[in-house]
Amino acid sequence: MTDQKSSNTVWHQATVTRERREMLHKHKGVILWFTGLSGAGKSTLAHSVEERLHQMHCSTFVLDGDNVRHGLCGDLGFSEADRTENIRRIGNVSKLFLEAGVIVLSAFISPYKKDREIVRNLTPHGDFIEIYCAASLNICEQRDIKGLYEKAKKGEIKEFTGVSSPYEIPKKPELTINTGELAIDDCVDEIIQYLKTRNVF
Ligand code: ADX
Repeated sequence: MTDQKSSNTVWHQATVTRERREMLHKHKGVILWFTGLSGAGKSTLAHSVEERLHQMHCSTFVLDGDNVRHGLCGDLGFSEADRTENIRRIGNVSKLFLEAGVIVLSAFISPYKKDREIVRNLTPHGDFIEIYCAASLNICEQRDIKGLYEKAKKGEIKEFTGVSSPYEIPKKPELTINTGELAIDDCVDEIIQYLKTRNVF
């Protein structure tokens, strides 16, 4: 779905720029991209970081796999091609939020390195912060909060990440957070500290 079919369109340059919006917000826009297995704690962590940022008066928005698949990506399944399209759409939505000067927290399995790299390359250098939520398959299976691993192992869910579909561990993420073992507050602290070192606020 990357072929441009809409010809005869002209990009309209906004006078209210990203920089002006960032000045209004008193912080920079950035994409925090949470990747990891289902049940690794991506959404929980993204929402907890958002809560902390909101208390710090930052403008934020969470894009979350399960929610987005009810609407914008409701037509997509879990084949490699559909996951790629899912991440392509979310990447572009994340980029719009970036232009809006918002700290966007995107929590998707995003199992393929090439898809994550495409999103990274959509944004100017340094705006894409890849956060690997490192929880082993063993831990995710034990937690099995949604009961999906059990179904996947019985063959009731096809192409399930970690069971019958691959997950490519990031080689050089900006951050690796041990969501399998650390307390959530400690995970949040690590991310906030990192954002300070990056002068986001
Ligand atoms: S991604 O691979 O395209 O990035 P995404 O993050 O949007 O996946 O959706 C993952 C969520 O969909 C999981 O947390 C889980 O609740 C649900 N899900 C349903 N079927 C599958 C499947 N086959 N593989 C992985 N997750 C699935």
